[in-house]
Amino acid sequence: MFRFSSYRLALAVDSPNEWELIRVNETTLELVMPAGHTLFARRVGEGSPVLLLHGFPLDSRIWQNQWSTLAQQGYDVVVPDLPGFGHSTSMLGTDISLDDWAEDLETLRRFCFGDQSIAMVGLSMGGYVALAYWKRWAQHLHQLVLTNTKPSVDAPAAQQARWNMAEQVQNSTTWEAVAPMLPRLVCAHTREQSESTVHWLQSMMAAVAPGTIATAQRAMARREDFTERLAKIGVPTLVVTGDQDPLSTPPENQQWSQRLTRGQFHIIPQAGHLPMLENPDSFNQVLVHFLNQHPSH
Ligand code: MLT
Repeated sequence: MFRFSSYRLALAVDSPNEWELIRVNETTLELVMPAGHTLFARRVGEGSPVLLLHGFPLDSRIWQNQWSTLAQQGYDVVVPDLPGFGHSTSMLGTDISLDDWAEDLETLRRFCFGDQSIAMVGLSMGGYVALAYWKRWAQHLHQLVLTNTKPSVDAPAAQQARWNMAEQVQNSTTWEAVAPMLPRLVCAHTREQSESTVHWLQSMMAAVAPGTIATAQRAMARREDFTERLAKIGVPTLVVTGDQDPLSTPPENQQWSQRLTRGQFHIIPQAGHLPMLENPDSFNQVLVHFLNQHPSH
């Protein structure tokens, strides 16, 4: 069930400099951000607040096997399309950073949840954004889930590959630029057993505008290193990856998760970089178990 109280609507009208609500139906909302672009989000359920952040080059639909399950378990689930992805429009400018996206998420949190803290779940690029959010708004988090991601920056060659893609995509289709990523996103089992899932993923990737690909790659290339700050994360933090993820491997994840003061680590079987899609039952079990351990007050 998706409900907006009149209080929330009044805030939207009375504080136009902060945000403006332009569209809302039972399960979606769209906010005009102070910078002028729009942020689209899905919302389902009632209860403890959870925000799910997608990876690159994807959108909020990557969480389609999670939002109903979480709603049934008593969570108020908000799933944004990050700027430029899905139904959200792009931020203007060539030097957009992950901090700018984190700022949008804080606006979204305030709009949806007021004073309440949230559990933030970030997939890969969404994990980088979650760490950028934690840097500034740790007081609004009561749990963190970092799935198939890393706190470190790229090695020089990987960083250069991002700058190259940001250039290349200006003169090609998105699909030409991102197609080489596909085999690294899903494991062999998923590719062999779930052809329709792979086609669906392909169409989601191809639908991202070239300008958004370039913006996101530049922002990720410039992201900060959080490795040395992991011990300062005070909230319970779940680290998850797929047993066959070549981009965020189990040994790497296990190693950095040990730096967390209140960390837990889980490996999802028969999954690559997208366990929420490839093995949703196992992923949901681990996620719900973790969220249920530390409900918000
Ligand atoms: C993602 O899934 O979001 C990407 O693999 C992130 C990245 O390119 O580092």
